[in-house]
Amino acid sequence: MFDNAAMLVQKNVALQALNSFHIRARAQALVRIGSVADVQAVLADPQWGPSPKLVLGGGSNMVLTGDVKRLLLKVEIMGRRLVAATDRAWIVEAGAGENWHDLVAWTLAQGWPGLENMALIPGTVGAAPVQNIGAYGVELQDRFDSLDAIDLHTGELFTLNAAQCAFCYRDSVFKHSSQPNDDKGYRALGLKDRALILRVRFALPKVWKAVLGYADIEKKMAEAGVAQPSAQQLFDWVCQIRRAKLPDPAQIGNVGSFFKNPTVTPEQCADIIARDPRVVYYRLDNGSFKLAAGWLIDACGWRGKSVGQAGVYDKQALVLVNRGSVDGSDGATGGEVMTLARAIQTSVYERFGILLEIEPVVV
Ligand code: EPU
Repeated sequence: MFDNAAMLVQKNVALQALNSFHIRARAQALVRIGSVADVQAVLADPQWGPSPKLVLGGGSNMVLTGDVKRLLLKVEIMGRRLVAATDRAWIVEAGAGENWHDLVAWTLAQGWPGLENMALIPGTVGAAPVQNIGAYGVELQDRFDSLDAIDLHTGELFTLNAAQCAFCYRDSVFKHSSQPNDDKGYRALGLKDRALILRVRFALPKVWKAVLGYADIEKKMAEAGVAQPSAQQLFDWVCQIRRAKLPDPAQIGNVGSFFKNPTVTPEQCADIIARDPRVVYYRLDNGSFKLAAGWLIDACGWRGKSVGQAGVYDKQALVLVNRGSVDGSDGATGGEVMTLARAIQTSVYERFGILLEIEPVVV
């Protein structure tokens, strides 16, 4: 139904195909956003302008625990282009609705490597900065230049650099709500449910150097007898590694890692090693330690277990999956997923004294 000449509001929309967990839920109202003008039309609309909104990209980092009552803005802004070349980097811009993996493959094909370690991460370009996606030693922030967004409260268009996005491990300004009386600018001002990301620019280094060092990648290098892999080889290996240990959301609903890998002090790490010397951990540059959450969950016996139709993936305990069919009506509910997640948190806490933090956005 046309509510506005420039705006099509769909009512009572099934979301099963629009979230990668394939959770059954409905949106009371949904608008597809193909351009900044579409956002402006929503904001100018007397009915929808003032109403609460939720931004949806590829739905690959979201757990729906019920029907969405807010106006859902489904971002479908497309386009990929080279916008500048500096002495050091190619600056490539992509619309927020572009598929992330397609962007990685396209930049590589154009001769602008740098994103290959992040191949096959599900989701859209606009969602990538929200959680500062990363894999195999490269995070989005390492290749980020800037982004354009629109303030859903004021309609203001603005650009943020990396510092203003406040990137951290699987975290950014877009995951935090604004604090009352906050006058320190965007870095301190949380932009959760406030900013809609329109376009993202990446700085891809002209002098490319492979990022190696991850055990899975080192194994591929040894198998192939290659000491200096090309970007294309790295891309192919990362795709192979991910396909072998992570479920494809097109076949098995999931949102990738469900928990963050916890960071602990050297004392806490020593305490956990004393509880179980097999624990997998890495020393960080700042002297603290990162623990493999997948190992902690696995050690508590969760691999392969289920609550209703929500389960722990049998090849990677950090990934929760929907055991129902992707398009059927027998899938997991958000309630089942969250019950399973809470049970895992409780048992890891009781055994190791670590509270695992949930990584996707719970709606
Ligand atoms: N492990 C187990 N049992 C398990 C799962 C893992 O013992 O069931 C052990 C593995 O043997 C390994 C260690 O835990 O020694 C780490 O596992 P893995 O290499 O699979 O990486 P991860 O720490 O579980 C992180 C990211 C992934 C990213 C990979 C590669 C987070 C939350 N997850 O996983 O990102 O692809 O490293 O860089 O940081 C995502 O964020 O959605 C995601 C998939």
